[in-house]
Amino acid sequence: MTTIRLEAVSKYFNNTLAVDTIDLILADGTLTVLVGPSGCGKTTLLRMIAGLEEPTTGNIYIGDRLVNDVPTWERNTAMVFQSYALYPHMTVYQNMAFPLEAQKLRKDAIRQRILPVAEALGIAHLLDRKPRQLSGGQMQRVALGRAIVRRPDVFLLDEPLSNLDATLRIETRAELKRLQRDLAVTTVYVTHDQEEALTLADMLVVMRSGRPEQIGTPHEVYQSPRTTFVGRFIGNPPMNMLACHYIPAQRCLELTTCCLPIPPQFMAALAATNPPHSLVLGFRPEALRLHWQQPNTAYVFPATVYVLEPLGRETLITLNIGDERVKAIGAPDTLATAGVQVWLTVEPSALHLFDGESSVALQKTS
Ligand SMILES: Nc1ncnc2c1ncn2[C@@H]1O[C@H](COP(=O)(O)OP(=O)(O)OP(=O)(O)O)[C@@H](O)[C@H]1O
Ligand SMILES: [Mg+2]
Repeated sequence: MTTIRLEAVSKYFNNTLAVDTIDLILADGTLTVLVGPSGCGKTTLLRMIAGLEEPTTGNIYIGDRLVNDVPTWERNTAMVFQSYALYPHMTVYQNMAFPLEAQKLRKDAIRQRILPVAEALGIAHLLDRKPRQLSGGQMQRVALGRAIVRRPDVFLLDEPLSNLDATLRIETRAELKRLQRDLAVTTVYVTHDQEEALTLADMLVVMRSGRPEQIGTPHEVYQSPRTTFVGRFIGNPPMNMLACHYIPAQRCLELTTCCLPIPPQFMAALAATNPPHSLVLGFRPEALRLHWQQPNTAYVFPATVYVLEPLGRETLITLNIGDERVKAIGAPDTLATAGVQVWLTVEPSALHLFDGESSVALQKTS
């Protein structure tokens, strides 16, 4: 059992609060992704789990063991950093074999471990080369392979695919996910790339300024962002957001260009005493439909097409609603052109509402 448990873990560097009172349980055998913008504390949190930084406050458990005072080499974690730290005088094979020789594994057992992992990571043809004969992306995969063959209790991976080109990154990501599933080693994966986070995670921890802003499955976080920050950070293009006001007398949301009826899922939240007046209306680009004539529905925004960006499979359409910009996804052969007046409709169930002051999502009822 290798559950990782963090209890009120904080880290100060002098006066900088890098990680702020985090409570987190990472289930045995799962892949947890820490995702967030630069400087939000991802690496610091990972290094504390590895034992490379000491928490200022709080406790870290690996399995049932409190590891605050356990040195790195006794935690049985394997960490892959952005910088790969390979031994320059050894071949790729020797680099991967090194931790296994230290474990006193037999030569043929070492070979049996290394070959399938090297195959999966696309480095099997490089086993006789020295690190200086490799590209950055190849070195990164060797470092990853060396961690995987060790079969530690925990993998700690810090942006391990950052040096790969786009195609290789997507391929390696899939292989890595499959390897993690097969080995069922508890894994913490750090990235600032929201797409990588969504594709890999069993559980996603969206971090901001040292704190988890939301913890959930990728589906939960994407479908129900807890704050405007999460709505914008997770999803590409980000969730569209429009400022609006709640007008209780008319039971409607007033935007600069139109009024919308209250979506049914927010009736209860807005019927509470002192509902927020200033709100943010959120909707994903893919939730919008374009119409050339005004459709007969209450959930409609008049808009003007600003620019079209063909992406092959679809067209990204940027539109103006009054002074505000939104993005929609159109067909590859959309008839929209810049400057044209259109109407955008959205299903009320696809609408999100956030408190304009706190940025926190209003409670939904079904
Ligand atoms: N050794 C250190 N000494 C002082 N401040 C540090 C140290 N390490 C990190 N910090 C600060 O702590 C905060 C969190 O840094 P951290 O490296 O954990 O961020 P990150 O989320 O990994 O960012 P990135 O995506 O850029 O790698 C930042 O403000 C950073 O400047
Ligand atoms: Mg980092």
